[in-house]
Amino acid sequence: MPNSPRVYVGMSADLIHPGHINILHRAAELGEVTVGLLTDRAIASYKRLPHMTYEQRREVVSNLRDVHEVIPQETLDYVPNLRQLRPDFVVHGDDWQSGVQRETRARVIEALSEWGGELVEVAYTPGISSTQLNASLKQISTTPNVRMARLRRLIDNKPIVRLMEAHSGLSGLIVENTSIEDDGLRLEFDGMWSSSLTDSTSRGKPDIEAVDISSRLQMINEIFEVTTKPLVFDGDTGGKPEHFAFTVRSLERLGVSAVIIEDKEGLKRNSLFGNDVEQTQSSIEDFCGRLRVGKESQITDDFMVIARIESLILDRGLDDALERAEAYVDAGADAVMIHSRQRDAGEVFEFCRRLRQVDTRVPIVAVPTSYHHVTEDELAAAGVNVVIYANHMLRAAYPQMRKVAESVLEHRRALEADGLLSSISEVLSIIPENAR
Ligand code: SPV
Ligand code: MG
Repeated sequence: MPNSPRVYVGMSADLIHPGHINILHRAAELGEVTVGLLTDRAIASYKRLPHMTYEQRREVVSNLRDVHEVIPQETLDYVPNLRQLRPDFVVHGDDWQSGVQRETRARVIEALSEWGGELVEVAYTPGISSTQLNASLKQISTTPNVRMARLRRLIDNKPIVRLMEAHSGLSGLIVENTSIEDDGLRLEFDGMWSSSLTDSTSRGKPDIEAVDISSRLQMINEIFEVTTKPLVFDGDTGGKPEHFAFTVRSLERLGVSAVIIEDKEGLKRNSLFGNDVEQTQSSIEDFCGRLRVGKESQITDDFMVIARIESLILDRGLDDALERAEAYVDAGADAVMIHSRQRDAGEVFEFCRRLRQVDTRVPIVAVPTSYHHVTEDELAAAGVNVVIYANHMLRAAYPQMRKVAESVLEHRRALEADGLLSSISEVLSIIPENAR
């Protein structure tokens, strides 16, 4: 079509539905359609990472009859692409006049006015939306390989990946479904952490690798039955190397995205005890051997074996931590976790600064339990890629349960505890199937 008007349509196109087709039809009536396909990074900047990768979405959209060309839109903001293309029309659904995208729309109108372009808004197609489709997709659930691969995609596309501890189906559901709107952004957790501390404590046992792997896997299975987000497994020391090989395969088969093992040996104690209890750090050589076993055992390319460095926990200093980080990455670790029990994040930040001087790429994981005043933005700016809130769901439940137990004892009845409790209808509504 020589000299036909140029039409620009920005879309995520994760779950294509008749609403999208309607917009593309209208766009094609106006001229030659270029789709600005939002990259994973652009989408992750304001909402959940799409189900399909950019390449998969491009494949689908470029085969639609009304689409002439697909180009990446690297930001939520249309303006950089619009200035380059100077289209005669931008076509969009009329559902962005309020809410998160209002600002984006205003900027589109302003940019178009620079060359006399026009915004055409197509009436929202009733009865179908990506939000509805996403909700039903959650009910259909996910597959192990899709869930597993999601962690790497998140690390590649988000400034910082946010994980929250889950130790039961219920806490998993909270991590899966809790979200807030803040300043036009939709905030939620990216995935879950299966903590040895909370998995043991919720069973009334100490955090000394006394809960066997089968029980831990069983719990993950239960969590996976009701969630779709990726999970990182706290593998403690990894156990005997021969056993670790089996653990890795079992985790992978379930669809767990990563295992983190720590460079300790002998009777493992929780790191937050520090040197108050006896804890032995492994030699670099031994631990590298364990990491290699893990890497050699995995079958997919997506699974990650992450090395956890305990040098700061055991007061061995930053130089030791950095030497280990480099050795562990050389041995094949896909990421490093630096742990600290200080209230000040200084040593973690210094570790990140120095590691980034020699390695700009390896993802860094941090667990701000003791330095809990530090924000995600501050961690990301320091070079941290994954933040784990390692025990907060369990620590939230415990004081409340205790208070209720005490109240019932004190009053010899349950009435006074009411203010501490969910109503029965609230409890019933936690489970999505009950609401149907
Ligand atoms: C866990 O959550 O079990 C951890 C982190 O390993 S910590 O408890 O801080 O050692
Ligand atoms: Mg642990």
